Amino acid sequence: MSQPRKIVVLAGDGIGPEIVAATRRVLDQVAVFDYEEHLIGGISIDEHGLALHDDVVDACRSCDAVLLGAVGGPKWDELVAVDPGAARPEQGLLGIRKALGLYANLRPVKPSPALIDSSPLKEERIAGTDLLVVRELTGGIYFGESGRDGDTAHDDCSYSVAEISRITRVAFEAAKQRAVGRDSGPRVTSVDKANVMETSRLWRETVKVIAGEYPEVELDHMLVDNTAMQLVSRPTDFDVIVTENLFGDILSDEAAMLTGSLGMLPSASIGAEGEPGLFEPVHGSAPDIAGRGVANPLATMLSAAMMLRYGLSMPAEADRIEGAVDAVLASGLRSPDLFTGAEGEREAGTAEVTDAVLAELA
Ligand code: IPM
Ligand code: MG
Repeated sequence: MSQPRKIVVLAGDGIGPEIVAATRRVLDQVAVFDYEEHLIGGISIDEHGLALHDDVVDACRSCDAVLLGAVGGPKWDELVAVDPGAARPEQGLLGIRKALGLYANLRPVKPSPALIDSSPLKEERIAGTDLLVVRELTGGIYFGESGRDGDTAHDDCSYSVAEISRITRVAFEAAKQRAVGRDSGPRVTSVDKANVMETSRLWRETVKVIAGEYPEVELDHMLVDNTAMQLVSRPTDFDVIVTENLFGDILSDEAAMLTGSLGMLPSASIGAEGEPGLFEPVHGSAPDIAGRGVANPLATMLSAAMMLRYGLSMPAEADRIEGAVDAVLASGLRSPDLFTGAEGEREAGTAEVTDAVLAELA
């Protein structure tokens, strides 16, 4: 038998440890893995005084894939409120993305048919939505120079042609792949604020150049404010959305609500060919419900499925997990974030939802 693949597990804060533990049970049901647990975020600040230790970066560099829960919580926000220079849990997440060169963040949004009623949007609007947000993850305002000068603060946004080109190629390649066997052709919507920002004008110019390599893919450009509106008014018209870091952060939370709950959205962060990717739910650490056994583990399980598909070349196992999650939702079982009280639904906590997924996989 070949060596089991090595997964570094960064459970993090809040509900992170609960949803990651649930997901490990599911992973163990489809294959044998070699796990290595490390600290990130607030728990790492408590232990080491910083959100990401160098040893953790080294461990991530030498594994096959990284599975992450969530970081952050009020405890550390309060420390920062008292001392603005204090370590922040989010530095751990941004640090690991940067250190591993994870420049492409893929956030697929496809409401499960069983959850259409949980979405705040009308069924006729969201039915058939199947889009992918490709978010640039290691540039822009998140990583620009920032600082304070007296009563003024600044955060710089910069992008290079090289950074824009590589994320654009990821989007076009993904669009081509998604269109295989589909009736409609591949489409990419590039989102910017080119009517105001210079980085957005460079973004648009560069996307146009790269699009020349993909004549079979239809491309349009959309301003970010308009995109925010179109996402809720006609989400089914989108295929692949490619955008810069901050716009992608905002739009992906908005798009997540199409699925009924932020608790359903997985993500994959990918870097250079052959380097380990990082897989995490889009939602945060939900400190308000941490430790109560009610967190929705499904986005983390679906992130693990993305890890199997994109990070470990195990597509059959990925299909199994996704199928099991769909089946559990179809059965009516709902964590509280998804529960609407409609007929056929039954409310359940993390353990019961996880047991149901395991039963589907057995
Ligand atoms: C996300 C999160 C992070 C981000 C935070 C926690 C730093 O919102 O992954 O979308 O802004 O990238
Ligand atoms: Mg976000």
